[in-house]
Amino acid sequence: MSRRVTLLGATGSIGTSAADVIAAAPDLFDVHVVTARSNGAKLAEVARSLGARRAVVADEAGLGDLREGLAGSGIDAGAGAEAMEEAAAEPVDLVLSAIVGAAGLRATAAAIRSGSDIALANKECLICAGSAFMSLARQHKVQVLPVDSEHNALYQLLDKREAADIRTYTLTASGGPFRTWSVDRIAQATPQQAVAHPTWSMGAKISVDSATLMNKGLELIEAHHLFSLAPDSLDVIVHPQSVVHALITFRDGSIHAELGPADMRRPIGYCLHWPDRVREPVSSLDLAEVAQLTFEPPDLERFPALGLAMSALRKGGGAATVLNAANEVAVEAFLAGKVAFTAIPQIVEIALTAADSEGLLATPASIDEALALDAVARRLAQADLKRRRAVA
Ligand SMILES: NC(=O)c1ccc[n+]([C@@H]2O[C@H](COP(=O)([O-])OP(=O)(O)OC[C@H]3O[C@@H](n4cnc5c(N)ncnc54)[C@H](OP(=O)(O)O)[C@@H]3O)[C@@H](O)[C@H]2O)c1
Repeated sequence: MSRRVTLLGATGSIGTSAADVIAAAPDLFDVHVVTARSNGAKLAEVARSLGARRAVVADEAGLGDLREGLAGSGIDAGAGAEAMEEAAAEPVDLVLSAIVGAAGLRATAAAIRSGSDIALANKECLICAGSAFMSLARQHKVQVLPVDSEHNALYQLLDKREAADIRTYTLTASGGPFRTWSVDRIAQATPQQAVAHPTWSMGAKISVDSATLMNKGLELIEAHHLFSLAPDSLDVIVHPQSVVHALITFRDGSIHAELGPADMRRPIGYCLHWPDRVREPVSSLDLAEVAQLTFEPPDLERFPALGLAMSALRKGGGAATVLNAANEVAVEAFLAGKVAFTAIPQIVEIALTAADSEGLLATPASIDEALALDAVARRLAQADLKRRRAVA
């Protein structure tokens, strides 16, 4: 029997890789809904190629292109925030959550409330609303399968393991495009250089997060929520080849690692086919060709964003919500050429300090509370951006 799936963020990097996985085994999937923000033309193409029943753009401005692209196909077209939530709430077997940013939270929560299992790529929605998100999933008995390669690796490593036997959970980081750059050179980094990731091909926002190492910090918080792991049991190691994705260290000193090619179709395929394993459209890993696997500690001085995320993880409460929202604002400003690369962690730190001094860092008890704190944090970060523009 085919598996009914919905792809939220179908036109993005993860969405496109998911479409490849589905196209490689078309009889195993029945695609219900595909969504995008505004790229109606591309969404129409994806919907046609996957034989989806409904395609929805969040931004009404994309509806014209979507309708035009779907003309004569019999595929339903929709637009707007309400249509997105409604479409995400159509009960299916699995919803791939691959919208970028906390903007994906409402749709993903709507899918959870309908009882659909979630393949989670959109880490920001979990960073924004961690405890509320996971408790919603538990309440609706929904499985949250991690798409992020490191968490997918941990998920596989943890299978049938006793938590009491494990001392440390280690996520690997490629180190990003500026791994070997000096502080002065990093200060001059352009958006074009920041999105040129050395090992992974990804959307612009996560590529910048990888360049600041904020991505690895977000992933520590993601792992904490996904697997209920204590902050001090989580660790990061820089591994430029991106072949080892995560490691667990047992209390007897033995270390187990998960290895695989740096191709997101692998963890996406794992989630889409779970619990089965099938042959994916991914080239196999030739370790002799890789030849060397190297590891080094992260440098928190050149990459302060990772330290900020580690502090937010330890602090708990609403700190991660603020960190995430301020980071989204700062990355968008950097990509638009409005601030320097090094302003990203500064803007995040200022928003965190302001939110803390205003007593705003209580744990959001619900998705709505998390989104309210997210909105406040965005205002704090915007205010800092405005100050920066005024003095520039
Ligand atoms: N790319 C990777 O390899 C990778 C790996 C691990 C985790 N992730 C995570 O997966 C998520 C997606 O990443 P990505 O690299 O695929 O991003 P991306 O290439 O930028 O794609 C984002 C997708 O979300 C849609 N979207 C953007 N803003 C939206 C909004 N406000 N409302 C509704 N839809 C919106 C986009 O539609 P339009 O095309 O119309 O803009 C697009 O379909 C992120 O959370 C990222 O951290 C990605």
